[in-house]
Amino acid sequence: MTREPRKPGATIGIIGGGQLGRMMCQAAAKLGLRTVVLAPDEDAPAAQVCNRFICTAYNDIAGLRELVAATDVITYEFENIPADALDTISARVLPPVSALRISGDRLTEKTFIREQGLPVADFVDLGDQDALEEGLAMFGGTGIVKTRRFGYDGKGQWRIDADTDFRQKSMEMLAQPAILERIIPFSRELSVIIARGADGQTACYPPIENQHENHILRRSIMPAEVDASQAEAARHIGETLVARLDYVGILGVELFETAEGLIINEIAPRVHNSGHVTADACAVGQFEQHIRAITGWPLGTTAPHSHGEMTNILGHEIDNWTEFVGSPDTCVHLYGKPQARKERKMGHIVRLSPLSKN
Ligand SMILES: Nc1ncnc2c1ncn2[C@@H]1O[C@H](COP(=O)(O)OP(=O)(O)O)[C@@H](O)[C@H]1O
Ligand SMILES: [Mg+2]
Repeated sequence: MTREPRKPGATIGIIGGGQLGRMMCQAAAKLGLRTVVLAPDEDAPAAQVCNRFICTAYNDIAGLRELVAATDVITYEFENIPADALDTISARVLPPVSALRISGDRLTEKTFIREQGLPVADFVDLGDQDALEEGLAMFGGTGIVKTRRFGYDGKGQWRIDADTDFRQKSMEMLAQPAILERIIPFSRELSVIIARGADGQTACYPPIENQHENHILRRSIMPAEVDASQAEAARHIGETLVARLDYVGILGVELFETAEGLIINEIAPRVHNSGHVTADACAVGQFEQHIRAITGWPLGTTAPHSHGEMTNILGHEIDNWTEFVGSPDTCVHLYGKPQARKERKMGHIVRLSPLSKN
């Protein structure tokens, strides 16, 4: 890949058409760049705002070739793309396909994190019921079964408590490759959003506090109230991961805050829902930062100019749009999704307030 920065007017290919792709397109347009989106769904949020839309499956070779022919650099907005399909075009893709492959499978992801000497919840690979029973014995009779692939918003997960009759459910649970994880008694969930440029320079946002409801992110607050050593630990985790992944772009890292320090939950090789707050509370948010990184541009500032609180708008909550739009100091983002299904992410708002002095 060339080290020369792409010039304004260059074209970025984006695989995936959801709200993350949509906001990448908007950030690219702000910088005078063009976008071509590839996704299987004509009504996709990103299809509405890109310069050109290629409507094919993610592993459609003809579609991917068309994307290569039409663009200067290609990125992706979600990790459930078959990495094998991208191997043929990997020279053009950032973040590197290797990062997509590692993070797309919880077993390879957590093994990689542990190999870097970074803290991650104890886990075992579940080949069969014996492995499940052994793992549960190791973790005191409790744990969380997670499918290795395709989990999101708590889907593909089963929590086993001391009184769960797991034997009855285990056939269903083990139908797909899965891991068992130790339950972490965390005090809060945090995340760190970090960018690495083509030249290896990094830019890390302050830690963000995340609150979930029904396993779905509800609220993200930046800057999180953390002490200097926690902020440094979060930055160290982010810096180590992007360096070892030889990464270019934005990486999202989900963290558990525990009495023993921060523990990594998972990594996302893309812009991240918890990072939406950066786009309104900083001069350069995660979407623009990602575009800058993959086009070889200098990274921008990550210092917030305001305190930001992001709230996701789920399902029919979007019917209250007049309330959001009418609220003072509130930035409103609606994704243009045609139908409001239960728990579907329809948009988000960011409430800004002055940064506290201490
Ligand atoms: N090992 C664990 N211990 C305690 N809570 C967990 C653990 N793993 C996941 N969770 C809870 O479940 C949520 C979703 O799990 P996660 O692994 O992040 O999957 P998803 O891909 O759905 O985001 C986490 O944000 C956290 O609240
Ligand atoms: Mg998660």
